[in-house]
Amino acid sequence: MKKEFDKIVRSRRSVRKFKAIDISDDVVKDCILHASLAPNSSNLQLWEFYHVTSKKLMKKISYACFNQPAARTASQFVVVVTRKDLWNKRRLFNLSKIKARNLKLNDKHLKNRSIAIKYYKYLIPTVYKEFYGIIGLFRYFNALIIGLFRPIYRQVTKSDMRVVAHKSSALAAQNFMLSMRSNGYDTCPMEGFDSLRVKKTLSLPRSAEINMIISCGIRDEKGIYGDQIRVPFDEIYFKK
Ligand SMILES: Cc1cc2nc3c(=O)[nH]c(=O)nc-3n(C[C@H](O)[C@H](O)[C@H](O)COP(=O)(O)O)c2cc1C
Repeated sequence: MKKEFDKIVRSRRSVRKFKAIDISDDVVKDCILHASLAPNSSNLQLWEFYHVTSKKLMKKISYACFNQPAARTASQFVVVVTRKDLWNKRRLFNLSKIKARNLKLNDKHLKNRSIAIKYYKYLIPTVYKEFYGIIGLFRYFNALIIGLFRPIYRQVTKSDMRVVAHKSSALAAQNFMLSMRSNGYDTCPMEGFDSLRVKKTLSLPRSAEINMIISCGIRDEKGIYGDQIRVPFDEIYFKK
């Protein structure tokens, strides 16, 4: 298993030219299911995945990606979308699932359940509730003052919460790309696109944000631009 994982991680590359061969919708869908199993902030799952296979839509998305090679030659796209606006819906979903857990009075998970219920009932709204960025700003100053006396969670402004949502979506994207690789397929994550045009093409609401667009297909060896370049590991690894 360790060897297999090593092989998958090491053979994943950003592929800029794909072979003109169809790939299986079902396999890609299965990889998207793996994406949805990624760890994510407060399990709110503020993401959506748009699996684009229609040639008409693909042409439009490629155009919005400036027809860069990875988009022009892709067999399919997966668009990873963050939906910070769905926090309340997903909070209530978690709450109902946790409440539905049928635990006996002496169950050791009973205490955890009660903590989780409080977490989704009170804490999540405190962090996510927003009114034109004003509540976030209030939370920020509140954290600054309380933080003088004890550790406190400080990433509480409106833009901080965007980062939180994008972090989780990026983890899902990586799950997806590794899952694709394990199926012998290739990918290229892209942030070079006109987000407004892509949102319009996919009929996304204003509040949705595109995390990344992932081109999918089977690698043409010419689509790998040389050996993988990384800074020396000892420049980025710090053991303390
Ligand atoms: C968030 C993100 C955005 C990226 N955007 C693009 C892009 O628009 N076009 C592209 O060709 N590659 C894009 N890449 C791929 C990177 O250039 C690539 O991951 C990097 O050069 C390392 O190469 P490797 O993935 O083969 O290891 C992106 C990667 C990430 C993670």
